[in-house]
Amino acid sequence: MIKICKTIDEVRAEVKQYKKDGLSVGLVPTMGYLHEGHKSLIDKAVTENDRVIVSDFVNPTQFGPSEDLEDYPRDLDKDAMLCDDAKADIMFNPEPEEMYAAGSCTFVTVSGLTSELCGKSRPIHFRGVATVVSKLFNIVDPDRAYFGEKDAQQLAVIKRMVKDLNFDIEIVGCPIVREEDGLAKSSRNKYLNKEERMAAPVLRRALELGKEAVAKGEIDADKIKVLIVDTINSEKLSNIDYVEIVDAETIKPVSKIRGPILCALAVSFGTTRLIDNFSYGSREK
Ligand code: PAF
Repeated sequence: MIKICKTIDEVRAEVKQYKKDGLSVGLVPTMGYLHEGHKSLIDKAVTENDRVIVSDFVNPTQFGPSEDLEDYPRDLDKDAMLCDDAKADIMFNPEPEEMYAAGSCTFVTVSGLTSELCGKSRPIHFRGVATVVSKLFNIVDPDRAYFGEKDAQQLAVIKRMVKDLNFDIEIVGCPIVREEDGLAKSSRNKYLNKEERMAAPVLRRALELGKEAVAKGEIDADKIKVLIVDTINSEKLSNIDYVEIVDAETIKPVSKIRGPILCALAVSFGTTRLIDNFSYGSREK
């Protein structure tokens, strides 16, 4: 049965024993409300490590004041069952006061990579992510940590942070898991009403068209973006935040596609903001 730890001391005591026994540790950081996408990360972690810890923590510091922190979906019992089925060993589910002691005022900022894409409309988001992920790395001291490629900018930020702060941890990116109609799995899909849910797969169709055009040799980033934007706008319920083509490593916009790129978008349906992307070049998927 999955062990649920609520305190940092409990997790540390378990990890200390693992390390004493010479066991490797994989960490899967999540904000809970687990779905097949998270399960694919846990499955990979279970195959690559002796012990797996899944953190389940809705991190307040990565939500802006007008974002959905209070409403973010939560279902701890279901999460525990999924972790158990996937054969994870520990679910770490601290209260906010446990993760952020009173007076907490230290943050991790990854500059540059965080100024584009989601960083533009969510200015404090990546500071919160980098801070909580650093804390989790310090608490769990994993050998490997697993992140989904749906949050491609987050993955790039974490890789940069690990390099810059010399964390001795392998960061493993895992492919996007999709619904049958192509919509990327996300805890926020639950917010979509019936009409919005029917409209949302346009994101995948638009990205596929863009990717095909790149594969056929189109290197003009603006032309690809127009193709994607026009396709998305054909769905009346969509409201584009951004469609952008950036260098896969620096996350800076490119005008010509000459190396590995990330084509990423954020689009709202009603009040639900969804993200999706494709990579092309060495990180192609
Ligand atoms: O991707 C997420 O669910 C979160 O941003 C993460 C990495 C667990 C940090 O809170």
